[in-house]
Amino acid sequence: MVKIRNIELGEFPLLLAPMEDVSDPPFRALCKQYGADLMYTEFISSEGLIRDAAKSRQKLDIFEYERPIGIQIFGSETESMVQSAQIIEAVNPDLIDINYGCPVKKVTCKGAGAGLLQDIPKMVRLTAEIVKATSLPVTVKTRLGWDDDTKKRRRSSRALARYRDRSHLDSRSHP
Ligand SMILES: Cc1cc2nc3c(=O)[nH]c(=O)nc-3n(C[C@H](O)[C@H](O)[C@H](O)COP(=O)(O)O)c2cc1C
Repeated sequence: MVKIRNIELGEFPLLLAPMEDVSDPPFRALCKQYGADLMYTEFISSEGLIRDAAKSRQKLDIFEYERPIGIQIFGSETESMVQSAQIIEAVNPDLIDINYGCPVKKVTCKGAGAGLLQDIPKMVRLTAEIVKATSLPVTVKTRLGWDDDTKKRRRSSRALARYRDRSHLDSRSHP
């Protein structure tokens, strides 16, 4: 049984990946109808959220029939990410997902998304601060590493797994 804290997802759950400009409410409604067990919103900029940008705010719209649903955020500044987690908690999703996997230049050049794979200790610290700031379960979506060398050593997943084990967390990463 796959379980994220109290969310029971069955033996082989079908997860809807977060996709920018795709995983919006109408698309999610279709995916739910066709059997998605857990869905994620498209990623939301923490900098946009804390500035109350309309585009970011709109992505917080979730509906009861969508549960369980996770809201995904990205960013690189601890304070903005922590504040965003609190803004997200107020709309009451089932979990928060952190994006450590986006390879797009405009995201990585600001040290967000996969950019954080270049500073694994910062990624772990950021995760810890977000977990501390919210009572919701936290998952992360990440990659094995920034380049071939770090991929081979799987530093990102190992560091997060060590943090999870140390903290007795119930969060998990997803593909
Ligand atoms: C159009 C598009 C938008 C995406 N946006 C996001 C996103 O907002 N957050 C995220 O974590 N991944 C995003 N991804 C990556 C997907 O979630 C997924 O990891 C990727 O497509 C690989 O899955 P696949 O092998 O099933 O295609 C996006 C992918 C696509 C194609």
